[in-house]
Amino acid sequence: MIIAIDGPAASGKGTLGKRLAAHYHYRHLDTGLIYRAVAKAMLDAGADLADEAVAAGIAQALDPAVFGDAALKTQEVGAAASVVSAHPQVRRELLAFQRNFAAGPPGAVLDGRDIGTVICPEAEVKIFVVARPEVRAHRRALEMRARGEQADEAAVLADILKRDERDRNRSAAPLRRADDAHELDNSELDIEGGVRAAIAIVDAARARR
Ligand code: DC
Repeated sequence: MIIAIDGPAASGKGTLGKRLAAHYHYRHLDTGLIYRAVAKAMLDAGADLADEAVAAGIAQALDPAVFGDAALKTQEVGAAASVVSAHPQVRRELLAFQRNFAAGPPGAVLDGRDIGTVICPEAEVKIFVVARPEVRAHRRALEMRARGEQADEAAVLADILKRDERDRNRSAAPLRRADDAHELDNSELDIEGGVRAAIAIVDAARARR
């Protein structure tokens, strides 16, 4: 079974994906890390983020071993990822890797922006995770402080809104809820509550099979 989890930045879909994968003993891919890895390589090389050909070359040569790099999690890399991920050539280079990951046994959870719409439109379960922007900014600020970084919540909110706007309005695979996706609003839920709600959605889908 393939479980597709999509939603905007800091909606908590990464943590949810990891927890769902552990619950069902499936493999998990946080696809945001792929775009972050391309973005960080661009920043490290001093490349212009708007240079689609350079970004596509980096995407083609990407080594999944770098996905564990903690430096991918920063706000700066996230903002750069939102820019490079708008390049159609970059998305094309990364398509096969994601589809291969999804296809392997025993099942997979992928989270991102376009999993239910473009990468795995055939996914048996699709969940679109949302939360109010202010809640997402607060959670992101707490995470940053826990890592020892400074966090100005108003600036984090502005960054989240800008990223949402870019992710939703780009022409290549824009962020949108697939017609057959279940919407899960976790604004008023803690992590455990969100995980329980998602498990209920997946169990219902498995029971129908
Ligand atoms: O989920 P995240 O914050 O790690 O994602 C970083 C950026 O990568 C996000 O702003 C848009 C892009 N992204 C994407 O375009 N498609 C995906 N499947 C995942 C992330």
